[in-house]
Amino acid sequence: MSHTPQPSASPVAGPLTVLGIESSCDDTAAAVLRHDAGGRPEILSNVVLGQAALHAGFGGVVPEIAARAHAERLDHAVEGALDQAGVTLDALDAVAVTAGPGLIGGVLSGVMLARGLATARGLPLIGVNHLAGHALTPRLTDDVAFPYLMLLVSGGHCQFLIVHGADRFTRLGGTIDDAPGEAFDKVAKLLGLPQPGGPAVEAEARAGDPHRFALPRPLADRAGCDMSFSGLKTAVLRARDRLVADQGGLHAQDRADLCAGFQAAVADILVRKTGAALALYRAEAPCAPLIAVAGGVAANGVLRARLAAQAEAAGVAFLAPPLALCTDNAAMIAWAGIERMRAGAALDAPLVARPRWPLDEGAAPMLGSGKRGVKA
Ligand code: KG4
Ligand code: ZN
Repeated sequence: MSHTPQPSASPVAGPLTVLGIESSCDDTAAAVLRHDAGGRPEILSNVVLGQAALHAGFGGVVPEIAARAHAERLDHAVEGALDQAGVTLDALDAVAVTAGPGLIGGVLSGVMLARGLATARGLPLIGVNHLAGHALTPRLTDDVAFPYLMLLVSGGHCQFLIVHGADRFTRLGGTIDDAPGEAFDKVAKLLGLPQPGGPAVEAEARAGDPHRFALPRPLADRAGCDMSFSGLKTAVLRARDRLVADQGGLHAQDRADLCAGFQAAVADILVRKTGAALALYRAEAPCAPLIAVAGGVAANGVLRARLAAQAEAAGVAFLAPPLALCTDNAAMIAWAGIERMRAGAALDAPLVARPRWPLDEGAAPMLGSGKRGVKA
């Protein structure tokens, strides 16, 4: 069952210049987009102030530190985005802001700034679901038609969605524990590799044998699209501990083989569940079938190649937007706001910050709330 909000406004037809604001995790971001109805959107600016250095010593994002950093930097991000776009507040037609899901202190910081700007300027204020921002990105970068299949794979998210419209999504399944990026980061940590773990594990894996260690593919044989990555990470930990006990430490080849085995297992799980998701999506008889990926893990070359091959075999187009638009950013939030205005979605509902906000209210609740905040 998918969630279908009732449009209560008429679709906006004229040119739109929209400011987007994103602060739901550890990136403080602001962007300005311009869109003429019927044309391609133009990203006038896309500012992302990361917080990685602030959280580096803690093994994860610390919500209070994140919230303070957002509160201190949001106005700089907005000023930077307006400057780079070469516009002032007078040029704006609306403000779109991430209203959830995410770490509540950061979401509140963004919502309060956006509300202040919108009220002062008499502009419409659009509360955007962060996941909708990711899910609508293929239409920002490419001329993609609804419905398409979306795989979100990042440090905080992992789910399959059928995107039917600007405000209508069906969640087919997702992780029941860790997100894949979180698992990459934890595996890197337990092998003594730097953070973020994904690129480090991928680099090590190039010299490794993916078959040396027999690592599990949790839930692989279960029907449906739910996934699990936490047992896989524990299996890497056990294999490491066995090697350390047997030989007193890890050799470079051991590390490479563990990384290659782990990466292959993640790819196997995602590819197998993509097969199940594609079958459900094909049943909708899309006229231009397409699967898109987003999220930091979509940067992984092995995963991308395997997903692209699988899509090709299924006769479905494959799209991976540029990485800067796959990871957290505010251009996707401004774009989701524009999509909602074009679709005539209700914009007048009171805007509340929501730590949990499933895109598909009819789907079973997601479990878990990894180190980067709640999953949906
Ligand atoms: O979307 P993203 O930038 O942010 C959040 O999830 O907040 O994703 C970051 C995640 C990290 O866990 C990082 O380790 C992972 O994406 N990642 C990768 C690669 N590059 C980044 N995972 C696997 N392979 C990569 N090449
Ligand atoms: Zn995200």
